Amino acid sequence: MKNIAIFASGSGSNFQAIVDAVQAKQLSANLSLLVCDQPGAYVIERAREAEISTFVFNAKDYPNKEAYESEIVMLLKNKQVELIVLAGYMRLVGSTLLSEYEGRIINIHPSLLPDFPGKDAIGQALAAHAKWSGVTIHFVDEGMDTGPVIVRERVRIEENETRESLQWKIQEIEHKLYPSILQMLLTKGDALQNEKARAN
Ligand code: GRF
Repeated sequence: MKNIAIFASGSGSNFQAIVDAVQAKQLSANLSLLVCDQPGAYVIERAREAEISTFVFNAKDYPNKEAYESEIVMLLKNKQVELIVLAGYMRLVGSTLLSEYEGRIINIHPSLLPDFPGKDAIGQALAAHAKWSGVTIHFVDEGMDTGPVIVRERVRIEENETRESLQWKIQEIEHKLYPSILQMLLTKGDALQNEKARAN
């Protein structure tokens, strides 16, 4: 089974959905590490409950992004992490992590990218009076929510939609979609490796 690390900054409902999918054996992965940049975040409590190792850091304690990302890379290598899953991680990933994990970092975003990238995508969609929003899972590159899209799922925004109701609909999709896409990516990787092994 592949080792994965989840990066999160907040409540961690997506983190929880992934933990639950692993426990229900719907997702074959080892959750090796939670990386969290917010010492008070509720996701840390969730990781403690699930007995998952956690690295919590405060960016202000480091001179720059390269410094904290180097420390994270060391931890990830130590735990032989193969895939990084961003789940509400509110920082732009820098070149230190990107170069080590090229093509192996994915993110979930609460809009139909390229629409409404960055912070408060739900508020942005409502303010724009959009008829549709949704969820995008994509590979991470150096931009803000710009990497190649893996999957997008639409959500209709109704006339009387509130921030709470839209967030609820989006998160309901996220919690199903993220574990299932992870499972697909992890098993597809195995299929490719088996294919290579047969060819050699
Ligand atoms: C999710 O809506 C995700 O799409 C976005 O941040 C939110 C994180 O929520 N990137 P949670 O911490 O998983 O509850």
